[in-house]
Amino acid sequence: MTDIETVIFSEPEISAAIRRMAEAIACDYAGKTVVLLGVLKGALFVTADLARTLTGISGSTVEVRLDFLAVSSYGNSHRSSGEVRLVQDTSHSIEGKHVLIVEDIVDNGLTLKYLMTLLGGRAPASMRAAVLLDKPYNRRVDVPIEYVGMTCPDEFVVGYGLDYQERYRTLPYVAKLRSEIFTPLGESVAI
Ligand code: IMP
Repeated sequence: MTDIETVIFSEPEISAAIRRMAEAIACDYAGKTVVLLGVLKGALFVTADLARTLTGISGSTVEVRLDFLAVSSYGNSHRSSGEVRLVQDTSHSIEGKHVLIVEDIVDNGLTLKYLMTLLGGRAPASMRAAVLLDKPYNRRVDVPIEYVGMTCPDEFVVGYGLDYQERYRTLPYVAKLRSEIFTPLGESVAI
């Protein structure tokens, strides 16, 4: 696709990272039921692939359940402001459940912090985060991430769920866009 400058993480690299995360989760949650709680829309693919990989690990004794919520954030089109809003809640109560929040990417950390505070107040049995891509360079809050797929360069990336103005989410790899694609915009963005 001509809008792409470079592929940052290829499909095999993403699969390998998800496999590593799934193996660690299978070990840590052995004998337990875990709710993978995907944060829409960005974490749609990582949640689906992580759930299937986890379930397919031979000898795994983890029972996997799926749920989703959706948030939106106000900020410019490249960075969330931390003013996060819940736009769709989970379909089941998480009280007493082992919850693993699944995120596509963490940058300043405000979105994940918001979710951990919100969901932590609902008395889950445990709560951790699994994130495919970590951008640790601009963190504004300290937020624990138990499972990290890969460290992402300090670039705005798209693909594998990540969008720029709702485009490029369905690319099977993670890539950097050509700079000409970006337009100055100071509006609300759905994440
Ligand atoms: P944070 O609140 O800055 O940690 O950002 C979390 C959310 O911002 C992610 O769930 C993404 O939706 C979005 N985001 C952060 N970095 C990128 C990026 O490089 N590309 C696309 N979306 C991003």
